[in-house]
Amino acid sequence: MSIRNLDDLLAEGVSGRRVLVRADLNVPLDKQSGEITDDGRIRAVLPTLSALVEAGAKVVVCSHLGRPKGAPDPQFSLRPVAGRLGDLLGAPVHFAEDTVGDSARSTVEGLADGQVALLENLRFNKGETSKDDAERGAFADQLAAFGDAYVDDAFGAVHRKHASVHDVPARLPHVAGRLVLREVEVLGKLTGDPERPYVVVLGGSKVSDKLAVIEALLPKVDRLLIGGGMCFTFLKAQGHEVGTSLLEEDMVETCGNLLERSGGKIMLPVDVVAADAFAPDATHDTVPADGIPSHRLGLDIGPETVAGFAAALSQAKTIFWNGPMGVFEMAAFANGTRGVAEAITKADAFSVVGGGDSAAAVRALGLDESSFGHISTGGGASLEYLEGKTLPGIAALEN
Ligand code: 3PG
Ligand code: MG
Repeated sequence: MSIRNLDDLLAEGVSGRRVLVRADLNVPLDKQSGEITDDGRIRAVLPTLSALVEAGAKVVVCSHLGRPKGAPDPQFSLRPVAGRLGDLLGAPVHFAEDTVGDSARSTVEGLADGQVALLENLRFNKGETSKDDAERGAFADQLAAFGDAYVDDAFGAVHRKHASVHDVPARLPHVAGRLVLREVEVLGKLTGDPERPYVVVLGGSKVSDKLAVIEALLPKVDRLLIGGGMCFTFLKAQGHEVGTSLLEEDMVETCGNLLERSGGKIMLPVDVVAADAFAPDATHDTVPADGIPSHRLGLDIGPETVAGFAAALSQAKTIFWNGPMGVFEMAAFANGTRGVAEAITKADAFSVVGGGDSAAAVRALGLDESSFGHISTGGGASLEYLEGKTLPGIAALEN
């Protein structure tokens, strides 16, 4: 890989230099309390930040959080993240109330060697996500003014052609951070020549989100196990009634085609947990996948399916998993995700968990993170990487 990395920058010496780090601190927040419910993405960027702090850099961190619409919106403030980042680093993080305004300028100017600042949410500025090159470029100019060098450690955002990811590296000496480097190395193993059998488990709610990756993976994998909300569109394509389950009517035909072309590689649920409402205390039963009552919706895969998926996983030498098997946030519908996750940890295979949601599920279910080969911080990014797409953030580092 022709990408320079953090070690190259450290070798040049960063003491007293301002280093702008793009991180992906887009962590889930509790809707009521606003508290961080999973800090995996903050932890993931610590190796890069600590190395820069130790080397005496003035570290300026920037990130997005959620999807604000190009203007300040308090519910998407990074302030709570600054607090947690400081706790984890063991040193205060100076928080700027804006991204490139007066507060940001004085915060950056006030940094001593080895100190860390976090700028307010990048997406409070229209230029960050603008499709207009000039508008993005103008914002990138303002951001780039805060650094003498740029480190991209925001793996979760490398698939976005955004100013902080795509345009800033064109303006500053740039390197990949430790996290980006590791993610690319691990995912590269899956796109290269994975040890077989190679089994992929896909879940999540929408087929339309996963269509490109299914197309790209089908020729490469030995088995593709499909659960989560999207399995119902496949079940419908097989001619089954799915009650009030999540269904993408306009994708039924596409799913039918995929099943026909898959050469039997696609495994679908044979039973599902069907509930009378989308609620933690809803009445529910396990029913055969071809017998979902018309007034019920499937919220998890059933135990027979878990056993079948686990058997396929136990044979695997390489596993990639993206997307929960059911509504794991509700205890009654978490067994599918837990069962599949446990089967992955038991398999004698190199396993990669891709996706903010699946990674959060691993932690929320109390599973041992170290029993997986790698837990990616990127959802969309890891999928697009596996699709073989050019990722704007990676391409920008190569130039
Ligand atoms: C993610 O959570 O997938 C990344 O942080 C990217 O966020 P986005 O999908 O809002 O661009
Ligand atoms: Mg996303």
